[in-house]
Amino acid sequence: MSVTVIVGSQWGDEGKGKIVDLLGKDAHYVARYQGGANAGHTIVIEGVQYILHLIPSGILSPNTKCIIGNGVVIDPIALMEEIKMLKQNNIDITGRLFISEKAHLIMPYHKLIDSASEKQKSDKTAIGTTGRGIGPAYNDKINRCGIRILDLMDKAIFEEKLKQNVKEKNSILGSLFNSPQLDINHILEEYSKFDDLIRPFVANTTLMINEAINNNENIIIEGAQGALLDVDHGTYPFVTSSNPTTGGACTGLGIPPTKINKVIGITKAYTTRVGNGPFPTELLDETGTNLQQFGHEFGATTGRARRCGWLDLNALKYSIMINGITDIALTKLDVLNHFDEIKVCVSYKLGEEEINYFPSDIKRLEKVTPILKSLKGWKKDLSGINSFEKLPIEAQDYISFIENFTGVKITYISISPDRKDTIIK
Ligand code: GDP
Ligand code: IMO
Ligand code: MG
Repeated sequence: MSVTVIVGSQWGDEGKGKIVDLLGKDAHYVARYQGGANAGHTIVIEGVQYILHLIPSGILSPNTKCIIGNGVVIDPIALMEEIKMLKQNNIDITGRLFISEKAHLIMPYHKLIDSASEKQKSDKTAIGTTGRGIGPAYNDKINRCGIRILDLMDKAIFEEKLKQNVKEKNSILGSLFNSPQLDINHILEEYSKFDDLIRPFVANTTLMINEAINNNENIIIEGAQGALLDVDHGTYPFVTSSNPTTGGACTGLGIPPTKINKVIGITKAYTTRVGNGPFPTELLDETGTNLQQFGHEFGATTGRARRCGWLDLNALKYSIMINGITDIALTKLDVLNHFDEIKVCVSYKLGEEEINYFPSDIKRLEKVTPILKSLKGWKKDLSGINSFEKLPIEAQDYISFIENFTGVKITYISISPDRKDTIIK
């Protein structure tokens, strides 16, 4: 029994949902610790696709309990839509979903400010957010004026906090963004409905998860986004507003770092990024378009086309370092079936200098050119392969090259969106 953290090692959309679902099948708990409905985690079971944004990817396994931790920012509208979607698919969540009373709420003004502030920026400065209100909600949390699930359940406190916030946000919306004013009564009415709907799921999840750890239960912790989108360690300011890296799991759930046994870094066999910001191995040519088409690289939350490029091992090494990744799950290997030649980035060239670290300053990161190593493609369909030894030798070489370069074992190899198509090495 163990505590396993699953993190995205790149810029998100690495296939975390698929691997969390697979490992969550046999887990007592699956818990989310950060982010919100900006995430889009896709799971395919026997051909049926589910996309989850807020509810942990363990919810599709009938014996697994799911926790939305204190570090997550919860949009009640998105949550209700997701619960409805699960009901329509006959997935029983009774007694299986728990929401931290300490989690912060996404309010209508967070979404309005998110979109309005993006609109005011230029093409160069816009972050390309998902528009889900994430940044403004975490802003309020850090600024100590956020509204928590606890507050939602106390009418007087909720009204008082809402009044203060609406006053302040109306002033921002009016003066900075020239946007229409918010009506407090409308929000009060809408959110009092959420109180009734959410109340049955609210729990002291910090206590719950620590009890489970002490009882040696099997716990999977599900990261959203990815290490390079981390607000501290990513390509700031082109990042999200939380800590998707492993450390975020401790604060976002209230668990001690000493209890984490394993960290799986979900790594796409190439790289994608949605939204703006530096991307050293991005391919703006036909190869990039091919990766996008073969990999169906369109966002699960916003439908935006994802930017594509070769696997960046220099960035992966950095991600392994800051997350303490003990195992890699390599996903979407099948997308590379179509290429004669596959490249990986082993270091960067910055001016005349070759560097093998990930620069903190995006002005420097924007200037690097990737130093690429070429490997031979396998040009074969991988369907039905269920062991490492049965993979074409060129695919085995690709995997071994990544393992040797990073010093981390690749324990899972994913060759299709479906739960069943995963090789365990
Ligand atoms: P997440 O945000 O990390 O959970 O990833 P997303 O769900 O946003 O994006 C990953 C996409 O790749 C989804 O459409 C998955 O169904 C799909 N996917 C996951 N693993 C594989 C794989 O091994 N091969 C292929 N072809 N698709 C995969
Ligand atoms: P999953 O969990 C990929 C990106 C946005 C934008 C930046 C900030 O599915 O991997 P935000 O709305 O968070 O303020 O946007 O972060 N982004 C993601 N990119 N996958 C995600 O989640 C993402 N969540 C946010 O595109 O560049
Ligand atoms: Mg996603």
